[in-house]
Amino acid sequence: MTAKKSTPEKRGSAFSETLDATATRSASTANGNVSKYSEPPPPQQQHQTPRFRELELEQRYIDEPRKLRVVVIGAGLAGVIAGTLLPAKVPNIELTIFEKNADVGGTWFENKYPGVRCDIPAHVYQTSFEPNTQWSEEFAQGAEIREYWQKLAQKYGVYDRLKLSHNVTGLDWDAEDSVWKIDVVDLQTGRQFTQTADFVLTAVGRFNAWKLPDYPGLDEFEGLLRHTSNWDPEFDPAGKRVAIIGNGASGIQVVSHLHKKVAHLDHYARSPTWIADSFAGDKTSLEPKPYPEELRQRFAEDPAAYTAWRKAFEDKYWRGFETWLRNSDRNNDARVALTESMKQRLLQSNRPELLETLIPEFSPHCRRLTPGPGYIEAITAEKTDYIQTRIARFTKTGIETVDGRHREVDAIFCATGANVDMIQPFPIRGPDGALLSDLWSSGRPDQGGDDHPGFPYTYLGAATPGFPNLFFVHGPNAAGRSGSVPHSVEVQVSFFARCLRKAAREGVRTLQPSRRAADDFVEYCDAFFRSTVLTEDCSSWYNGGRPGGRIHGLWPGSGAHVETVLREPRWEDWEYTYLNRDGNRLMWYFGNGQTRREEDLTSDMTRYVRDPAEIDLRTLHDW
Ligand SMILES: Cc1cc2nc3c(=O)[nH]c(=O)nc-3n(C[C@H](O)[C@H](O)[C@H](O)COP(=O)(O)OP(=O)(O)OC[C@H]3O[C@@H](n4cnc5c(N)ncnc54)[C@H](O)[C@@H]3O)c2cc1C
Ligand SMILES: NC(=O)c1ccc[n+]([C@@H]2O[C@H](COP(=O)([O-])OP(=O)(O)OC[C@H]3O[C@@H](n4cnc5c(N)ncnc54)[C@H](OP(=O)(O)O)[C@@H]3O)[C@@H](O)[C@H]2O)c1
Repeated sequence: MTAKKSTPEKRGSAFSETLDATATRSASTANGNVSKYSEPPPPQQQHQTPRFRELELEQRYIDEPRKLRVVVIGAGLAGVIAGTLLPAKVPNIELTIFEKNADVGGTWFENKYPGVRCDIPAHVYQTSFEPNTQWSEEFAQGAEIREYWQKLAQKYGVYDRLKLSHNVTGLDWDAEDSVWKIDVVDLQTGRQFTQTADFVLTAVGRFNAWKLPDYPGLDEFEGLLRHTSNWDPEFDPAGKRVAIIGNGASGIQVVSHLHKKVAHLDHYARSPTWIADSFAGDKTSLEPKPYPEELRQRFAEDPAAYTAWRKAFEDKYWRGFETWLRNSDRNNDARVALTESMKQRLLQSNRPELLETLIPEFSPHCRRLTPGPGYIEAITAEKTDYIQTRIARFTKTGIETVDGRHREVDAIFCATGANVDMIQPFPIRGPDGALLSDLWSSGRPDQGGDDHPGFPYTYLGAATPGFPNLFFVHGPNAAGRSGSVPHSVEVQVSFFARCLRKAAREGVRTLQPSRRAADDFVEYCDAFFRSTVLTEDCSSWYNGGRPGGRIHGLWPGSGAHVETVLREPRWEDWEYTYLNRDGNRLMWYFGNGQTRREEDLTSDMTRYVRDPAEIDLRTLHDW
């Protein structure tokens, strides 16, 4: 009945006849009875509805995707991976990457403090597609990691798409043309310009917007004051009295390395934290752990042996999910093991009484666990003051704590982390003029209402409702508990490539996640994280520095879990507009009804015909 009713007046009779015949056939075969489905429609309804329009075909081939202008902001490892994978995976992409620094590498370009190195093995902390078999140390130093990403960028042509020393200062959605207007400053010339893009991916890092603390008197201090991410390479620690504030991973690394070289060290660590020996059992050390030459040579000569070795080595970084879960045996075991290890190290340093003040109340893994070789030894050394009393203010010559004690120093290094609210470091204005930073900021008085979530409100950490054609690479809720950062970025960028391909192939003008999908994601996150130790009472970049707060720093699940989710996009969770001027979702996509491929007489139209022995039914026709 429906089909018949909606048959347009001007369509040929053959069309109506076919529908009639189908309707009658299906109705009469169902149970032998003739239902009202086969009855002819009342005559007055037959030629009434204007539901179908007469649209013009778009003169294009279905297999010729549109050109997409895509901008990536940031060229840390996330931007470099995007700059490598997107051109390979998205046909007809026109990609520009803006990076404010003078070279790629992000974290590994900027952080040059003594002792900076990865704390998971370098063989794990690299891409899947460009393995370096020749890492010199198990936990490579910052410079070697930086070099890896620079070489990769060179090899895959990322520099050709890159505009270095270009700072992005704002994004505005142009609703008329459905494009992003990106304000950029060329830091070398001072020239400001606006670039237009169909899609923008931010890859600005989680720790790039490092911050100094805001104590009174900060400007008065007359010695050297630096954030650890802004290290002064000229600084000579010999004979100096130095203060280091913060006991996150950066503070722990700097303290361990610097204390031997300075005359005196004041370490301000206001909160207790767990000090680990390793992640996944690979023990870090203060001194380099070089790979033996023979092993490196074997890896160079025998790629298959290297791959097998790496697979086995990396496997353990995918396990141990249960350690995250509240009251789990593995988390309890971790507490016992870490306590014992810290106790032993304090005993060896003749300071067993410190254990009580060092052990946190929160469970291990509430904040990111940090291997700290040499750290306990450094804070118990005679020349170190380990200070848990809160800082009151900076003075001309040092730091005063709230108990009124003043300590003079020559230099203060703030390992005080970064802005971890995950708000992009430039204004992003959406279609209705709303600023993303306002919506995500926790400081708004009307926070918590439907329109102002007050935290990084996203769908899969990938995109946010109300801001079309905008993706976040390694932003909120991006990476899981396990796996590695480069792997999770590869997986996420591949997901974005699927979205971009869909837009380019199907003539999607805009896509954004629906509010319902984002709400469902947040509800899942909340339920999931409640079952973990992450929502205990600790301050971390997972919770934006709000103890017990909503977790937006991690994917709600394991690394393997996020990989599974991102492999098959749930297209029903997105809202679309289309390039076709009449809003028809298929006109542009289906085009003239043909493929370019079949027009091209040299193309292989029978690629499905292969040696049957080579055919894998699981991937048959999946190309
Ligand atoms: C000292 C330190 C050590 C770390 N060690 C480890 C480790 O051992 N293992 C691990 O898994 N993780 C580690 N991390 C986390 C590390 O940040 C990530 O693993 C990874 O490097 C992040 O890469 P990214 O590209 O997402 O961000 P980033 O490396 O931060 O890169 C972001 C880039 O965006 C650019 N950018 C930002 N704003 C703009 C703008 N407005 N315009 C243009 N460009 C812009 C920045 O200049 C930067 O180059 C460490 C972090 C720090 C700070
Ligand atoms: N390879 C590595 O070993 C390595 C090295 C560095 C960083 N990282 C990565 O980067 C992440 C960030 O590490 P991070 O050390 O840079 O930052 P972080 O983990 O956020 O730690 C910041 C530290 O500064 C303290 N702090 C902040 N503001 C302060 C203030 N006003 N006064 C006193 N103390 C203050 C914090 O204390 P509270 O806890 O009390 O707030 C915390 O101890 C790590 O979790 C890790 O993922 C890894």
